[in-house]
This record gives sequence, C-alpha cells and structure tokens, in this order.
Amino acid sequence: MTTRVVRHIGELTTNDPSIGDESALGRLVDAAMVVDDEQVLWVGPNRDAPDADEMLDAKNGAVIPGFIDSHTHLVFAGERSDEFEARMSGVHYDGGGILRTVAASRAASSDELRRGTSKRMAELFAGGVTTVEIKSGYELTTEGERRELEIARGFSDEVTWLGAHVVPPEFKNNREGYVELLCSGMLDSCAPLAKWADVFCDRGAFSVDEAREVLERARAKGLALRLHANQLAHSGAVALAVELDAASVDHCTYLEDSDIDLLSASATVATLLPGAEFSTRSEYPSARRLLDAGVTVALATDCNPGSSYVTSMAFVMSLAVREMFMSVDEALFASTKGGALALRRGDVGHLGVGARADFAILDAPRAAHLAYRPGGNVVAETCRSSSTRRAVLDQED
Ligand code: NIG
Ligand code: FE
Repeated sequence: MTTRVVRHIGELTTNDPSIGDESALGRLVDAAMVVDDEQVLWVGPNRDAPDADEMLDAKNGAVIPGFIDSHTHLVFAGERSDEFEARMSGVHYDGGGILRTVAASRAASSDELRRGTSKRMAELFAGGVTTVEIKSGYELTTEGERRELEIARGFSDEVTWLGAHVVPPEFKNNREGYVELLCSGMLDSCAPLAKWADVFCDRGAFSVDEAREVLERARAKGLALRLHANQLAHSGAVALAVELDAASVDHCTYLEDSDIDLLSASATVATLLPGAEFSTRSEYPSARRLLDAGVTVALATDCNPGSSYVTSMAFVMSLAVREMFMSVDEALFASTKGGALALRRGDVGHLGVGARADFAILDAPRAAHLAYRPGGNVVAETCRSSSTRRAVLDQED
C-alpha cells in the first residue's frame, strides 16, 4: 500500500484528545501526518515526520478531519426558489412544499434523480465533506422510496429510509392507511436497502404515536433509528428519540428544559441544522443550552430543495458561530466528530492513528477561516480513504 506524508500543516485538528494540546480538538501546530490508502499511520510535529512513498505539501494550511454531513435529502428533482423568495417577504414555512418536491421527483427519470444527487454530492465533497448521510422521502410510494434508496446507495453507505416524511396526497383522507403501508409493505421492501429509518415527527407531519409505531417496526426489521423532531413546534419527539435510543434527533429548534435533561443523560446526539433556520427565517435552536448541559451536538446541512438548499458545511459552521453562539472549535467538532457520533461511527470524524484517512486541507492557516470567511473557498483539497471512495459507486461528475 502506498504511504503518503502530509508535511507543513500549519494547524492540524485531530479530534483526538491524546494528541497535541490535549483539548477535545487534539490540536497540533507545525504538524505532519502520514497516511496510507486506508488510514492514519502517524501524527506529530513536522520536524519529526518520517519519509513515505509520496509527499503532499499542505503549504502551512490547516488540516481537519473530513466533514461528516449526517443529515441530507439529496435525492430529489425540481427546485423551490419561489418558496424561499416568498418566505423572505414574510411567508411562514410549514413544510407544505414537500409535496411539490414529491410530485417533481415522482415525475423524474432515475437518471435525472441520479444526476442531481451527483451534482450535490460533488458540491459537498469540494467543500471538505467525506461522509454523507442521504435520506429517501420524496416519492412516498413503495416503488418510489425503493428507487430513491437505490440511488442514494450509489453515493453513500449511510442511507436512510424516510417514507414517513409526510402523508402523500393519495392518502390525504386516510392517514391510518398510509401508516399501515409504511409499517408493512413499504418497510418490508425498503429495509434491505437502508441502514437507518427516520420519521418527520412534527406539526403537520407525523404524531409521536405514529412515529413510535413506524420506528419500532423499522427497528424490528434491523434498521437503526434517527428522527426529525421539533423543527416546527414543541412535541414529545425528543423524548421518543431518547426512549428508542435513536442515534440522533435532528432540528431541535423548539426545546423544553426536560428535552435537554433527557438528551444530556442519553447517547442520542442533537443534530442542529441552522441552514434550515437561515432559509426559513426562523429562530435558531438553542445550541448553548444543549452544549452547556453536556449534550453531544452535531451540525449538518439538511440539504433539501425546500427548507435548506445548502451544500456547504463551512457555511453551516459560520451560522452556528454567528447565530447560535457556538465557538469556532465547538462548531468544527460538531461538524466532524459530532456528525460521526450522530452516525455511530468511530472510524471517521477524527484523525487519530487508525482513523480513516479522510481529511481536508485548507487554503488558510487556521480552521477558524471556515467560519470567518463565509462564502469563501477555504477548502483546497478533500482527501478520502479507499473505503470512503468505494462507498461512492456513482462517482461524482
Ligand atoms: O428536514 N423537515 C422535514 N424535511 C425537510 C424539509 C423538506 C422540504 O421542505 O422539502 C427538513 O427540513
Ligand atoms: Fe431534514
């Protein structure tokens, strides 16, 4: 296997507290790192770097673990910029536009869906993302959800069945019938294609009882659980996520103190998606209350055509810092290690010895530039291990 030494790293963030300054970020300045095709072999001061088969010069730029985007809806057709414009002039987001994307996605060819997904994957990748979770949820029929999962599997191992996104129009007057379809035929058919099950448990989508039924059935079929919760209103969805030991509960825009207490005593990660609050002009979630209570927080793009057409984790970091009062280091940790924890992955999100060699080299001396230069092009190169590259079968254009 070819070894490669990355020299002249101005600032290396490893997220391994045994390295460097011994903070959670495990940071070293004037560093070097040796990797092979698969994993990190050595990390240390630049002056001590051993030789390797190849050399990559970081030119005093910072190096970070590849971003983990643990929440996306990349498989869709069409766009909803008109809704964004309407919201910016005062219209309130209630998730209603989801059905427009369902109609557009149902009408699209598989090639069209694959091409759109590929384009968005390429944008994420160029911005330093190395692991991406991708949900279905824009067809809401057994065949359509299978098709979206199959397309998602061409781009990632982290694939989520979101048949329970909203009730589709043909079940408008028969939501029990749709929940029954979700729990039987659709789940049986989709479970073999997915790793995760998710439910949009919120006002206008599914109730806590409906979500419990779908998620318990999905778990019995071998799927691990995550949940969209409290984006639009307070509900018992966070408690449900904790009760079911979901890996992650996502959005958390509306939180009671009791939700925070439950999360802080659990292994469930709170995934915040500030691109959604930005794009819907809503109040941001209270990241500080979560962090100060010791809850593990992740940040992700929520890339979708309605509430957050965002493909830049650096921009998400900027929002987290500027609007949610996270420190730059908290935002970086949440975008890397936090995302890995939200996917219950120990092999990514850090650059300790043995971690997957998934990292980004920045055209900036410090990782802080990711948040400090919103809209800038700070990521110079995204490097992926061979396993991570293999997970992307349909290579980006
Ligand atoms: O995570 N909240 C539900 N689903 C998406 C929005 C989907 C849409 O508006 O198309 C979200 O924000
Ligand atoms: Fe979402």
